[in-house]
Amino acid sequence: MEIEFPNGKNLRLLIGDITKIRVDAMVNAANSALAGGGGVDGAIHRAGGSAIMRDLDVIRQQQGGCPTGSAVATTAGSLPAQYVFHAVGPIYRDGRQGEAENLASCYSTCLKLAEERGARSVSFPSISTGAYGYPMEEAARIALRTIGEQLREQDAGVREVLLVLYDQGSYDVHSRAAQALFADRIK
Ligand code: APR
Repeated sequence: MEIEFPNGKNLRLLIGDITKIRVDAMVNAANSALAGGGGVDGAIHRAGGSAIMRDLDVIRQQQGGCPTGSAVATTAGSLPAQYVFHAVGPIYRDGRQGEAENLASCYSTCLKLAEERGARSVSFPSISTGAYGYPMEEAARIALRTIGEQLREQDAGVREVLLVLYDQGSYDVHSRAAQALFADRIK
């Protein structure tokens, strides 16, 4: 599914493995310790190689870890990208611990990191909807709304955002949310 914005910018939803799709900046679903893990985190470190963890080791020495809702940038190693932005999504508890704000902040922070680096294309997984248990319908609305706001506001910078879903079910949830939010912009 492709959603067009007036300034020639696009948001695309697709099914796939995020580590296999060429972009300028690839977003990882990391943890606050920047320690690596399973899911997207495991796939990115496996495919990207040890250069990524070496960068994270430096960042960890400098600032400890990364707070929830924020992100840090590293090399992409052997991945088809220039950068990896390690975003730390919220662990979903009851929806009243600031989860929505922290999830939105992951998307907006990564798009700002992309703007700062002149990245033209950015890919996101569905942050927090795996091990961190965020209900996918709500997470999809937050992700799409936040990305849409950023694409509308920024004139320069990021031209294309890819939301890479890992399976048909996840894709269907996100495309339904996109229909509701962007009905008039869907190509
Ligand atoms: N490409 C795209 N999407 C993927 C991939 C992949 N290769 N692998 C998993 N996903 C999807 C999952 O299906 C889920 O919808 O990414 C979404 C996020 O799932 P997780 O990777 O579990 O991330 P998250 O829920 O944010 O939990 C983060 O898990 O792996 C650990 O170190 C990580 O502690 C952190 C926590």
